[in-house]
Amino acid sequence: VSRALRVVLLGCGTVGRGFLELLERERPRLIRRHGIDPQVVRILVRRPGLRDGIDPAVVTTSPLDAIDTPADIVLELMGGLHTAGALIRRALVRGQSVVTANKALLATAADELAALASKKGAFLGFEAAVCGGVPIIRTLRDSLAGVSITSLEGVVNGTCNYILTRMERGSSYVEAVQAARECGFAEADPSMDVSGEDAAQKMTILSRLAFDEPIRRVERSGIERVTRADVAATRAGGSVLRQVAVAQRVAGGISVSVGLRSISGTHPLARLDGEENGVIIRGEAIGELVLTGRGAGSLPTASAVLADVIACAGEREGRKAAA
Ligand code: HSE
Repeated sequence: VSRALRVVLLGCGTVGRGFLELLERERPRLIRRHGIDPQVVRILVRRPGLRDGIDPAVVTTSPLDAIDTPADIVLELMGGLHTAGALIRRALVRGQSVVTANKALLATAADELAALASKKGAFLGFEAAVCGGVPIIRTLRDSLAGVSITSLEGVVNGTCNYILTRMERGSSYVEAVQAARECGFAEADPSMDVSGEDAAQKMTILSRLAFDEPIRRVERSGIERVTRADVAATRAGGSVLRQVAVAQRVAGGISVSVGLRSISGTHPLARLDGEENGVIIRGEAIGELVLTGRGAGSLPTASAVLADVIACAGEREGRKAAA
């Protein structure tokens, strides 16, 4: 027997559409394996109009209409700080479960939102906020809960990796940025990607999970000035240019830095291609652990959203069983 799970979807862009597609593909398995049958009861969109495969009756342009629709889970995939933050808080305050991919919001408000969720007994999932289809959030929070982590080093922005590896194959910077936008990897404002801001937000979120000390400084520089000649010259020397994000312990806390780095061709992050992401986790008991995979794009990111929906349904069930 499967349980219907009412889902409100806030935002129907690259990740939202990917979620709807993946949900339909996976529905038989969700019913069979997890005993849940998610029903999308409302979808908040920015602009009205017909969308392929979406029942117009569930679509709304009113944030209040969407958030006040009775539901078991709210999926916040709209991005932005103000409206998205207000809607998430409104849901959590009434004890409703929330799954979000909002890096910008979590980078600044994760502690507050997590405290609110815990006070209200609500599930707050954000696997999709960092590294798309790479399960880095759960790995740090759950699988490595018993490890003292000493540093994180990663390629955590798919757009920059896509741009740099495309330039290795001869594209110009401008062509590569345009292609990353067309593939749905780039942020609505791609300067978030190329400036290092997106990677800094993600490393901030990861650091909060990995370390038990406060973040003391965040430094970032962009890749905007890189040329094909730079890329080719670095390769000729046996290295590659990558946007690398690092979080490590310094006196009094954690330092996060993001920038364009030349890394050896044999470095674990050097072989990441296109939108792939990778994180090297270093810890006392584990030495070095490397997670790699598709870090951006519709379906990989949607897979992280769906995993959180399933985890949320499991927790709700556990709570019911315990009650
Ligand atoms: N713009 C982001 C990236 C999307 O390129 O990594 C995934 O967070």
